[in-house]
Amino acid sequence: MKIICESPRLILREFIPADAPGVFALDSNPAVLQFIGSPVLTDITQAEALVARIIAERAERGVARLAVVLKSNQTFIGWAGLKLMTEEVNGHCDFHDLGYRFLQSHWGQGYGFEAAQATWDYAFDQLGLERVYAVARTNHVVSQKILRKVGMVSKNEFEWCGERHVWFEGRR
Ligand SMILES: CC(C)(COP(=O)(O)OP(=O)(O)OC[C@H]1O[C@@H](n2cnc3c(N)ncnc32)[C@H](O)[C@@H]1OP(=O)(O)O)[C@@H](O)C(=O)NCCC(=O)NCCS
Repeated sequence: MKIICESPRLILREFIPADAPGVFALDSNPAVLQFIGSPVLTDITQAEALVARIIAERAERGVARLAVVLKSNQTFIGWAGLKLMTEEVNGHCDFHDLGYRFLQSHWGQGYGFEAAQATWDYAFDQLGLERVYAVARTNHVVSQKILRKVGMVSKNEFEWCGERHVWFEGRR
């Protein structure tokens, strides 16, 4: 498994099949998905399939979400990183989306911002991208705070999957 980037307390690495229980812990918690459209998982096999998709995506596209583990003890705490979005969102297609999702037990400790910042540096310094984008629901105050703090700028509000969202752009 390859380490892609790091921050003071975090390692962002490629997903491995053994991350499925961690992903299940994440996505079976309705609180984690409160501001996200994805379904609450009810079975570990769904998480296994999700992890397999992320691994395949990275192999095919060179970019995919990354597992986030604590440097101190290698514990899986969630995911962060880029996703090459091939579906159209807010009139954009084939763009790099910056995102993050952490276990509720690890919220409020600055990991969200730290992982976003590591992703930002990776996107511009390592991949040489010109732009990254992000989407957050209009009422997701914490996520919007992270996106602004990392350097992204809100551009417009739009309807997506039946919910109001803010579109964020980050430039190199
Ligand atoms: C959104 C999420 C990633 C935030 O991660 P986090 O590690 O808790 O965030 P941080 O600790 O880095 O906090 C970022 C900022 O929000 C503030 N904040 C954190 N939790 C907060 C809360 N419950 N209420 C108000 N402010 C809060 C922090 O004080 C910090 O502000 P500061 O920069 O002024 O200090 C995390 O809650 C999560 O994984 N949620 C579920 C998945 C999700 O919603 N992903 C984003 C989809 S757009």
